[in-house]
Amino acid sequence: KIIPVVLSGGSGTRLWPLSRAVLPKQLLPLVTDQTMLQETLTRLSNWADVGDPLVVCGNDHRFLVAEQLRQVNLTPEAIVLEPVARNTAPAIAAAAIALKDKDILMLVLPADHVITDVAAFEAAVRHASVAAEQGRLVTFGIEPTQPETGYGYIQSGDALVTAEGCFNVARFVEKPDAVTAQQYLDAGNFYWNSGMFLFKPSVFLTELQRYAPEMVTAVSNAVAQSYKDLDFVRLHEASFAESPADSIDYAVMEKTTLAAVVPASMGWNDVGSWTALKEVQPNDAAGNAVRGDVYLKDVQNTLIRAESRFVSAVGVEDLLIVETSDAVLVAHRDCAQDVKNIVDHLKANG
Ligand code: GDD
Ligand code: MG
Repeated sequence: KIIPVVLSGGSGTRLWPLSRAVLPKQLLPLVTDQTMLQETLTRLSNWADVGDPLVVCGNDHRFLVAEQLRQVNLTPEAIVLEPVARNTAPAIAAAAIALKDKDILMLVLPADHVITDVAAFEAAVRHASVAAEQGRLVTFGIEPTQPETGYGYIQSGDALVTAEGCFNVARFVEKPDAVTAQQYLDAGNFYWNSGMFLFKPSVFLTELQRYAPEMVTAVSNAVAQSYKDLDFVRLHEASFAESPADSIDYAVMEKTTLAAVVPASMGWNDVGSWTALKEVQPNDAAGNAVRGDVYLKDVQNTLIRAESRFVSAVGVEDLLIVETSDAVLVAHRDCAQDVKNIVDHLKANG
């Protein structure tokens, strides 16, 4: 059986001004009428052998997460609350410790990704489950299209004879610099890490114990002293705060010898920026992606999103225009990554 473990902790600063700390992108209906979190969960809803999900999120988002699950008729296995953010490795460790006595595989899923070919995704998970049952930490590899530096890169090795569709991982490199990323792209046998993982809780914890024992100690204490409050499991604050902050990619995946990869072509997109969001939305003949009350004249290759007011653009191209009730973004589409600087500026200046 597979338990989805959904990470709902990011703040999506590149999607400002829509994505905010109080309402980050995974809790917004960015692409369809469902929120990204709801999409992530309902994508699995008619798969065989998939149990109720465990969601790990920040304390502040607990009621939104609970309400969004209720809206799509999902009863969580648990909603685990992090008193402070310590990145993905401790969040996944908390879930693994909570699930370690069950005979299950954990399917770790970021709450904010788009997957358009769900059948291909399910086939990849079925292949991965064979290797995961054999004690591997399985990643899902995406064919890279540009030397993106915000992703992990996975070099595939030999095929696993005992698990169809699965390969050994020769190397896992998290967020290489631009020159290295280009070399990996040219080499041809590298995939992007999708950020989703499938493994036994016990195997993950053994590897984490090997490479980050202080993390296991802190998170184990936080789970041991956790308590239930309504539907929520509250991790013990002082213990969890003692955990080092690190991602699963740096803490475990770069170091472990147990990694495997299932290459999968499933229309994956992590919607990390406004240009990425534009790609997953319908575009008209002039290459514009429009949401809300908008009028355009002579506009090309532009994303326009009006949340609360009428927005009009005339004679422009290659822009990102996002209107919300209290802030407006106008950016060139080549600068989509720089939007996070606005959030840094706002934080620094109150
Ligand atoms: N609960 C919880 N707590 N969730 C978290 C936390 C946390 O402290 N930090 C991040 N997350 C969630 C984010 O919301 C996101 O859904 C997911 O975990 C991954 O975190 P990111 O911060 O978005 O990671 P990344 O994009 O830099 O890199 C990861 O994803 C890439 C693909 O999108 C890595 O796994 C890369 O290797 C991968 O290529
Ligand atoms: Mg991300």
